[in-house]
Amino acid sequence: MTATVPVLTIDGPSGSGKGTISRAVAQQLGWHYLDSGALYRAVGVAAGWADLDLDDGGALVRCTFDTTIAFDESGDELRVLVNGHDATDELRTETAGAAASAIAAIPEVRAALKDRQRAFRVAPGLVADGRDMGTVIFPDAGWKVFLTASAEERADRRYKQLKNKGVSVTMDGLLREILARDARDANRAVAPLRPAEDAVRIDTTGQGIEAVVERVLALLPARNV
Ligand code: DC
Repeated sequence: MTATVPVLTIDGPSGSGKGTISRAVAQQLGWHYLDSGALYRAVGVAAGWADLDLDDGGALVRCTFDTTIAFDESGDELRVLVNGHDATDELRTETAGAAASAIAAIPEVRAALKDRQRAFRVAPGLVADGRDMGTVIFPDAGWKVFLTASAEERADRRYKQLKNKGVSVTMDGLLREILARDARDANRAVAPLRPAEDAVRIDTTGQGIEAVVERVLALLPARNV
C-alpha cells in the first residue's frame, strides 16, 4: 500500500536550503514532511545527554534503538520530542549537528533509522529532506531533487540565522565547519552524500526561496508518480 504513496525527495548539503524549500513545497502540496536530519540530530542530542563517547560505536547504536523521537505538528512550529523532552531548539545547535554527522557515519545507526524514515510515507504524499532520501531510503520516489549552493553562501546563510538568534560565531569558523561536514558526509562509506542518478540538480546560490520552490513544484507534473 505504502508503495503507491507519492514521494518527492530533496537531498543536498547543509545550508543548501533543503529544510526551508522542503517545508514550503510540502505545505503547498498538502503532503507530509520528513526532516531526516532531525532523526540523526535527535540521536546526537540523546547521546550527549547520556554523556556517550562519539567514538563508542556500540554505545551509539544502542542509544539509537533506545531513543524515542516524536514530531509534534499541532502548533505553529514543528516540535521534536526526544525521549519525551522538547529538544527542538537543542537539535539546531552546531554541537547537535556535528554529533549527528559523526553518528550518521555508523552503518548500524543508519540501518536502525531506515524503517522509522519509511514510516513517514503516508497518504496523500511525502516530501523527504536529507542526504540519502533519493539514493537509499526512497529509491523509487517519483521525483528527486538535489539542491546545492556555494559553501560561502551556505556559511553566510547560517551566519545570518545564528546572528538572528544572538549566537556569536565567525564566518571563517562557520565556513571551515561546513567544509569539514561536507567532506565527512560525502566521503563516508555508507550512504555518502551524492545525487541520485535520476535527481534534478538545482543550484540555489543567489536564488530566492520562492523561485526555488516554484522550480521544484514545476517538476511534478513532468513525471509519473
Ligand atoms: O540536514 P541536517 O543538517 O539536519 O543533518 C545533520 C547531519 O545528519 C548531517 O551532517 C548528516 C546527517 N544526515 C544523514 O547522514 N542522512 C540524512 N538523511 C540526514 C542527515
